[in-house]
Amino acid sequence: MENMTGRNSDSDERGLRTRLSVRIDSYTYPDGTNALSAMALDIRAGEFAGILGSNGSGKTTLLKVMDGLMKDFKGNVLLDGMDLRKLSPKEIYRKVGLVFQNPDDQLFASTVFEDVAFGPTNMGFPEKNVSERVNTALAAVDMSGYAKKSIHNLSFGQKKRICIAGLLAMGHDILLLDEPTAGLDPMGEYRMMHLLQKLNRENGVTIVMATHSVDLVPLFLHTLYILSKGAIVRGGTPEDVFTAPEEMANVKLRLPHIAELIHSLKHKDKLPFDKLPLTIGEARREILKVASKSKD
Ligand SMILES: Nc1ncnc2c1ncn2[C@@H]1O[C@H](COP(=O)(O)OP(=O)(O)O)[C@@H](O)[C@H]1O
Ligand SMILES: [Mg+2]
Repeated sequence: MENMTGRNSDSDERGLRTRLSVRIDSYTYPDGTNALSAMALDIRAGEFAGILGSNGSGKTTLLKVMDGLMKDFKGNVLLDGMDLRKLSPKEIYRKVGLVFQNPDDQLFASTVFEDVAFGPTNMGFPEKNVSERVNTALAAVDMSGYAKKSIHNLSFGQKKRICIAGLLAMGHDILLLDEPTAGLDPMGEYRMMHLLQKLNRENGVTIVMATHSVDLVPLFLHTLYILSKGAIVRGGTPEDVFTAPEEMANVKLRLPHIAELIHSLKHKDKLPFDKLPLTIGEARREILKVASKSKD
């Protein structure tokens, strides 16, 4: 089966290996709620992918399926070619980790060190190695120096970073994040996205994040899947996926603000824009083009 970006499943045109191959026919919660319907998506090694959808579209459910927490779905999910449902939790958690939306659901120890050390200690790494892992993970999330601090006294954004460090310390190279920017102020959102981009580029971590933050997405993500009522309705690069405002409104999302502006200048004010820019930089170039045309 081809996925939503029209690529076949072993590896893509860049030769990147498929880490997670998701083929879901349906998932229904015990109370009868139909949370996921037929969908296909592949997550490649080194990819930074987003699942974009409004509240209740199925993002959290999909991430839980990809993390092996939800097993009674109809379909098939492969992790490095192996049936996720046949792997033990230990085999899954060596590779994939899910960061919950609310860090208070994830953190439980009293200090930062204890919390980040919990995973690798449980996995049986020797004490000295655990300390090294904790220090490296804290450095990766820009939280070196916080090891002795009480979890209780951290800000919301710092708690989110510690959750990520806890997974990195266990050696995960696929991170699933449920709305990592939710609840952060605008600066915190950018810092979080820059951190994830750094982990993706420099540490080679494959990332899948659920979000409804349309303005940040085009700046950071390689691939985007739009989820609506439990189905993936579109997938591809942000440029492929963000089209007309009406289509986005159908899935209870909007375009990035900058794209909305250019769309209305083109359609309401009839200015000759060729393409719909998604970022300030692209918009600036397009506006300069239109301005120079009007001088001719
Ligand atoms: N434990 C549950 N039991 C029953 N229905 C649920 C449960 N969790 C979520 N749902 C329902 O499944 C759908 C998808 O929810 P969810 O995956 O949490 O969406 P999102 O993360 O995109 O907001 C929603 O209709 C929601 O009400
Ligand atoms: Mg959710």
